[in-house]
Amino acid sequence: MSGMRLRDRVAVVTGGGQGMGKAYARRFLEEGAIVVIAEIDSGRGRSAATELASLGEVSFAEVDISDEDSARACAEQIATDYGRIDILLNNAALYDDLDFTDNSLESLRRVADVNVNGTLLMSRAIAPSMVAANRGRIINVSSTTAYLHATSMAPTEEFQGLDSYAYPMSKWSVIGLTRFMAGQLGRYNITVNTIVPGFTLTEASRKLTDADGRNEFVDASERLTPMRIAAFQPEDMTGTAVYFASDDARYVTGQLIVIDGGMVSPT
Ligand SMILES: NC(=O)c1ccc[n+]([C@@H]2O[C@H](COP(=O)([O-])OP(=O)(O)OC[C@H]3O[C@@H](n4cnc5c(N)ncnc54)[C@H](O)[C@@H]3O)[C@@H](O)[C@H]2O)c1
Repeated sequence: MSGMRLRDRVAVVTGGGQGMGKAYARRFLEEGAIVVIAEIDSGRGRSAATELASLGEVSFAEVDISDEDSARACAEQIATDYGRIDILLNNAALYDDLDFTDNSLESLRRVADVNVNGTLLMSRAIAPSMVAANRGRIINVSSTTAYLHATSMAPTEEFQGLDSYAYPMSKWSVIGLTRFMAGQLGRYNITVNTIVPGFTLTEASRKLTDADGRNEFVDASERLTPMRIAAFQPEDMTGTAVYFASDDARYVTGQLIVIDGGMVSPT
């Protein structure tokens, strides 16, 4: 149920142009926040902002989170436009159209650059305004793939070389990054936490399923999951984002919440 738990908070949602990012942006607006969709794809970002405009104050800011200058310029522009940044949801990542079987060093570097370093660079760009305000919420996005280390990306059983595991490794790194950032920022009344979504049906992940949202992974996972569901809706993630962003979670930091029907239990 929506209330108005984030009234007048300025929230930046990276990668908010589609999928889960757009769902977080929508829910934050419903909770009374002022939302900035920070996106690399300007067409996507602009049309998401237009689509959500009837719900409240929402704008688009172009950014490449993996580019330090771009992240800094974006943060400065938002701070100038709104006077503060209360919430940063680091949702943007390389996921859509990612070739999970690409084990090249180049791919490993690019995925780490966006998914891990981009999360740090955006946080680093925005942290000073949160420190100045002595208030802030940073929410990072991992994935249960970080915990599914027994599943090889290789298409056959034959050894084809050690996988780089670029995407799951990047999502595992986000959990470590969350802890280190929480350690540094706690004294400034800034919390840093991680949402760990299970497989969620977005424009991107639907490219990996049939029309009913099913594939081999979903079928196998369902049997191992207490709640017997292994494909979620973006809206299933948004309440946890609101919780981490709200006053209810003011002393919760460095933590993670897994939303996957109970398949993975990291703690
Ligand atoms: N869909 C799933 O099953 C699933 C499961 C667990 C975690 N996740 C994570 O949730 C998040 C959203 O997933 P999704 O399915 O909506 O993915 P998505 O790929 O559709 O959305 C990511 C968004 O980030 C943007 N983006 C990419 N690189 C960027 C950059 N350098 N700078 C700024 N923006 C950039 C993209 O344009 C896109 O709009 C991602 O972090 C993903 O890794 C997804």
